[in-house]
Amino acid sequence: MKRIGLLTSGGDAPGMNAAIRAVVRQADALDIEVIGIHQGFQGLVNRDWNPLPSRACANILQRGGTILHTARCEAFHDPAVRERAASDLRAAGMEALVVIGGDGSFTGAELLHRFNGVKCAGIPGTIDNDLPGTERTLGFDTALNTAVEAIDRIRDTASSHGRLFLVEVMGRRSGMLAVHTAIACGAEAVLYPESEEDNYEALVEQLKSNWSRGKLSSIVVVAEGDQSVDASHLMGGGAAFNIGERLKREHNLDLRVVVLGHVQRGGSPSALDRIWGSRWGCEAVNRLAAGEDAFYLGTQAGQLVARPLSYVLGPRPEPPKELSAMVRVLAR
Ligand code: F6P
Repeated sequence: MKRIGLLTSGGDAPGMNAAIRAVVRQADALDIEVIGIHQGFQGLVNRDWNPLPSRACANILQRGGTILHTARCEAFHDPAVRERAASDLRAAGMEALVVIGGDGSFTGAELLHRFNGVKCAGIPGTIDNDLPGTERTLGFDTALNTAVEAIDRIRDTASSHGRLFLVEVMGRRSGMLAVHTAIACGAEAVLYPESEEDNYEALVEQLKSNWSRGKLSSIVVVAEGDQSVDASHLMGGGAAFNIGERLKREHNLDLRVVVLGHVQRGGSPSALDRIWGSRWGCEAVNRLAAGEDAFYLGTQAGQLVARPLSYVLGPRPEPPKELSAMVRVLAR
């Protein structure tokens, strides 16, 4: 193998640069040239790429975001677009493609392999930690720590005023970040899209029980994609605003809403995200060089594992139910 392509796709995640660096340097060690494709699959479609030499990866290990830039590419859903991209890759001498991203990105890679014969390797990068077959994705650990640090600060003012705060964390389709954040910051409740029990009514019960025990301030972590409150009659906004509006209307509460949003996506990656970005980057290149052609990497029970690329089409992992139950118990 003489030349491979590398791209980052979907939402950026801290640790992506660590993985880029590792892919480039492991490839360099095996005499393989890496071509950096800009802005994910969009750059593939636009043939927007350049050689990515080892020295171009100096001092990026500790930086958030992705030096290759990223995008969500609608055009890649079109089979004709993928067919042209595959022949462009071949014409440019790229014998395989390393994709760093989440489930949407891996689904694109899976199609590119299944229908167009492109060898693809996936490195999991999404703060949502919602990929099948891996207990960890790049960025989750950093985003979790960012959210917890922010909520610790909110806790100070919440308890000073005896106030309720609804804090919205990212996760349009996944409550992984919300539930783990709730445990780590000692939240009084958590609401997230996959849960039927953790709904508006349960939240009100929990708050009433807190008040009856003299607990005035509360932190409620809300995943961005939570649907507990039907927002069709409201003015829009995020899930936390919808819940806040209903609580205010029905219980006349002096509450506050904080949306952490993209703050969680940025920042210097944690040591764990750097370590796994580095390990997965090296492993992806070694496996491609050894002739493997359609896989993505992950962890299971702390060990590095590889899954067939088609695994991404399986059911997405949900936050463990016992963790959200634990949030309720620990809020007593
Ligand atoms: O997939 C990562 C993620 O940060 C989700 O948690 C969030 O719902 C989404 O991306 C936001 O996407 P965008 O940055 O395109 O608004």
